[in-house]
Amino acid sequence: MKISIIGAGNMGGAIARGLSQGTVFSASDISISDINEANRQAIKAFNPSINCFESNSDCIAGADIVVLAVKPWLVEMVANEISDKLDYSRQIILSIAAGVPVDQLRTLFPDKDEQGATIFRMIPNTAIDVRESFSCIASWNATEEQEALILSIFNEVGKAMLVQESQMNAFMSLSSCGIAYVFRYIRASTEGAVELGLYPNVAKEVVLQTLKGAVALMEANGTNPEVEIDKVTTPGGITIKGLNEMEQAGFTASVIKGLKASYLK
Ligand SMILES: NC(=O)c1ccc[n+]([C@@H]2O[C@H](COP(=O)([O-])OP(=O)(O)OC[C@H]3O[C@@H](n4cnc5c(N)ncnc54)[C@H](OP(=O)(O)O)[C@@H]3O)[C@@H](O)[C@H]2O)c1
Repeated sequence: MKISIIGAGNMGGAIARGLSQGTVFSASDISISDINEANRQAIKAFNPSINCFESNSDCIAGADIVVLAVKPWLVEMVANEISDKLDYSRQIILSIAAGVPVDQLRTLFPDKDEQGATIFRMIPNTAIDVRESFSCIASWNATEEQEALILSIFNEVGKAMLVQESQMNAFMSLSSCGIAYVFRYIRASTEGAVELGLYPNVAKEVVLQTLKGAVALMEANGTNPEVEIDKVTTPGGITIKGLNEMEQAGFTASVIKGLKASYLK
């Protein structure tokens, strides 16, 4: 099986790097194109077996799956370039462009045989670079086998979930934007720790391990956050004082407001 990725920037490059380390594709099954030579060179430097192209048309030849990983406003231009070169009876289109709905993709990739192209939309996050993305995926005109295939591919670079397209923007706010909110928590904790007299690099190490521990506990115990919080908050103790102070400063409300603000309507 072969996959071609158009756009070797942050996400396209990360997908190529991530998939080249998985089991579904060998590096030589992966092709990637970009107008930017520096991006192509970066991919070659990572793994010379990944095929790099300047031309998008050359890149998609022979692909089973074509991934669109350019900025949303460039999707139409790329579609105009490649749509009549695709064989819709066997080539799957997967777009990761945020805010470009399936309806628009259907008009950009009209199947001449009127069977309709098989289209997937996916929103990953930047942790795809280290094979720890959360990726929500919506499909149109796909068989169950095709859905299972796409899920298995992207489960290799994190956790992938099939969702309704109408919910994709909520998932995007929570995970694709949400990773930035997690980084901001890490930064805030580090800054607080420096005030308490710790060096920033030491503080960062502690915060990262604490986050890992929190995730591991919740996964191992299958619990909700409040259950784990109750185990830490001794009545009259210091943790509940810290939590209440954070809540008074608007912690939960800020997170919810941030998620809602980043929800694409
Ligand atoms: N970043 C995220 O967290 C995230 C998460 C989910 C989804 N997405 C989506 O992923 C897509 C890509 O985002 P990104 O952050 O990876 O963007 P990016 O870093 O700008 O990567 C896009 C790459 O495509 C190249 N390019 C531009 N026009 C092209 C063309 N006609 N043919 C081939 N390549 C072309 C760009 O080159 P130049 O730099 O020279 O223009 C750039 O190297 C976007 O649609 C975005 O909505 C991003």
